[in-house]
Amino acid sequence: MSAHAEEKRLTAPAIRARKGADPIVMLTAYHAHTARILDRHCDMILVGDSLGMVMHGFETTIPVTLDMMILQGHAVMRGSRRALVVIDMPFGSYEASKEQAFLSAARVMKETGCGAIKLEGGERMAETIAFLVERGIPVMSHVGMTPQSVNALGGFRAQGRDRGEWAPIEADARAVADAGAFAVVVEAVAEPLAAHITAEIPIPTIGIGASPACDGQVLVLEDMLGLSPRVPKFVKRFSELGPSIDAAVESYASEVRARTFPGPENVYAMKKKPT
Ligand code: KIV
Repeated sequence: MSAHAEEKRLTAPAIRARKGADPIVMLTAYHAHTARILDRHCDMILVGDSLGMVMHGFETTIPVTLDMMILQGHAVMRGSRRALVVIDMPFGSYEASKEQAFLSAARVMKETGCGAIKLEGGERMAETIAFLVERGIPVMSHVGMTPQSVNALGGFRAQGRDRGEWAPIEADARAVADAGAFAVVVEAVAEPLAAHITAEIPIPTIGIGASPACDGQVLVLEDMLGLSPRVPKFVKRFSELGPSIDAAVESYASEVRARTFPGPENVYAMKKKPT
């Protein structure tokens, strides 16, 4: 055996066992380099279909394909070693039948080597979730505001502000837990409802805009880094990378235009240790 024991990846059952214990840290990544950084700090990395907006400039996640998810899933698997990598099933790849869901999810798992998939929907997806879990596919579900339903919902809107809206969202969370999901993303849900669901269901709730009452949190990396032009109101920006990239590119452009851009020998001289 090598002197450096291989670090083991976290698994879906290990995340499931964290219910009510240490908060679970999750962020999205779509590239190997960002995955490498996240891997040092996160329990789970989500290859979210938000890549449609972040990487490709689409208005919604609807146009994202299975091939796009697999390509970026590969990159994230190559960049990470420890975090559980979860890959989103894009719109149209799993809703038609449980068989369609199995074939799509099996392709994602075989071709990327990821540890779990995520799909949107509560009660309406419960039968599919049970079908996948029985066949060896760990499933994370996503309830509350579900971005793939943006056209049916008529826009992105917080859920469960009125008590009258609680019942279907709570029923969704219970249904996916009963169906065997190992965790559930709860998006844009008012704090009292998020706290209630977290107390009531036996699997970890991963909040996004759903308050600290959840068992863990997820954010889109580019949103919390200040790189996305538009972010949901609930996002805390932990950095402002957009303006720093702009300033760096501006300096580069002015050095190129002024012909003061350092050639290889200047860079070498700059790097040489003083004698
Ligand atoms: O696609 C995504 O990034 C997501 C998160 C917003 C949870 O589903």
